[in-house]
Amino acid sequence: MPARLETLDFDEFHREELPRRLAAGHGALAAADGARIGSLAFRLTGGGAYSYIPQADRIDIVSGDEQAQTVVELDSESWQGIVRELETPPGLIYARRVKCLRGDPMHFVRWEPRLRAMYNGRPVFNPETVELQARDGSSLDVHQTFALASEPEEMAHFLRTAGYLLVKNVFTPEEIASFREHGEGLRDSARQGDKKSWWGRNTRGDAVLCRVTNAGSRPIFRDLYQDPRLTRLVRLCDEKLTPREADGVEGVTVLFKNPDMSEGLSDLPWHRDCGMGGHAVMCPVINLSIYLAAASRQAGELRMLPGSWKGSYGFVEATDTSGPEGVALAAEAGDVSLHYGDVMHAAPPPEGPGPYRASVLLNFRPPDFLHHRGEDNYNDVLLQRSDGQVEHLSKAASRT
Ligand SMILES: [Fe+2]
Repeated sequence: MPARLETLDFDEFHREELPRRLAAGHGALAAADGARIGSLAFRLTGGGAYSYIPQADRIDIVSGDEQAQTVVELDSESWQGIVRELETPPGLIYARRVKCLRGDPMHFVRWEPRLRAMYNGRPVFNPETVELQARDGSSLDVHQTFALASEPEEMAHFLRTAGYLLVKNVFTPEEIASFREHGEGLRDSARQGDKKSWWGRNTRGDAVLCRVTNAGSRPIFRDLYQDPRLTRLVRLCDEKLTPREADGVEGVTVLFKNPDMSEGLSDLPWHRDCGMGGHAVMCPVINLSIYLAAASRQAGELRMLPGSWKGSYGFVEATDTSGPEGVALAAEAGDVSLHYGDVMHAAPPPEGPGPYRASVLLNFRPPDFLHHRGEDNYNDVLLQRSDGQVEHLSKAASRT
């Protein structure tokens, strides 16, 4: 179990520590994006309440919850988890650890970037104003792709700046064929509710497999963590990252994109991979994808928000036309992409008749990673239903 953290006192934090943080610059960061957002209050179970009231250039802290548009009740441990970037609104909603006493629970979700700015000084990311630079000082070409033989410093700079990297032709067609065959084997043996697979439902109402999370049970996938082509790519990161335990749940995942999905985690909104919690202990984390098929718009692409991994960005559906466009990774079978878990990315529905995107996913994280509640995996909160289905966040929120 992780060492116990010092308890934060809810009243003292709001009367002394938070005003200090806001005055030191966090308040301006939280108000900086200018988006009109209503007020939010936290009420501790059996305790007091504080409201956060946005003004043009700051956030006011007010005792009580009378003025707040949305009031969320939670226990002290959950609230402290938010302050420490260990818990998130979506994670707490899926775990049923919050209750919405007034207003809209999705409003709490949309407040997350401002909470991180207020508590932690993390800037709210603005895709309209971000400026990313190449090594020579020119504007970074965010669509750039690389090869294994590319200049390592160029690749490291791109990964550090954009938060992702696409490397072409890393695996041969024969290797990819073999990964596909083993992936299909795992798909055949997956069962709903086995806690080793994620399921969704298509518009016809059929249960559809979205990913198997136990691919590390097969040596062909487990051994990828030792593949020198991949370990070289991961060493491009500034941080020392180590492979996740390959044969554990989510050690190696195989993802299968499906068409016409109406439920489950197949098409994903703009999100970060620590979106269910654990940022402070898990990040920086690198998620590496080996493409078994093309990832075109027709096949169901992966879109990235360049530069977003140093800030935070609110919940937006991938299909929301008022949301950001981002950059699609133009991957083909045999290519590999790396992205920091903190970079905002989305997986919109495929627009063509198939074949659909399929990838093997590996995960590299800090060597001292430890779940703050001593559990295995922050995404486990998504696997509460016995049929393996994962509800849409707004549906889970409507039950709070
Ligand atoms: Fe993701």
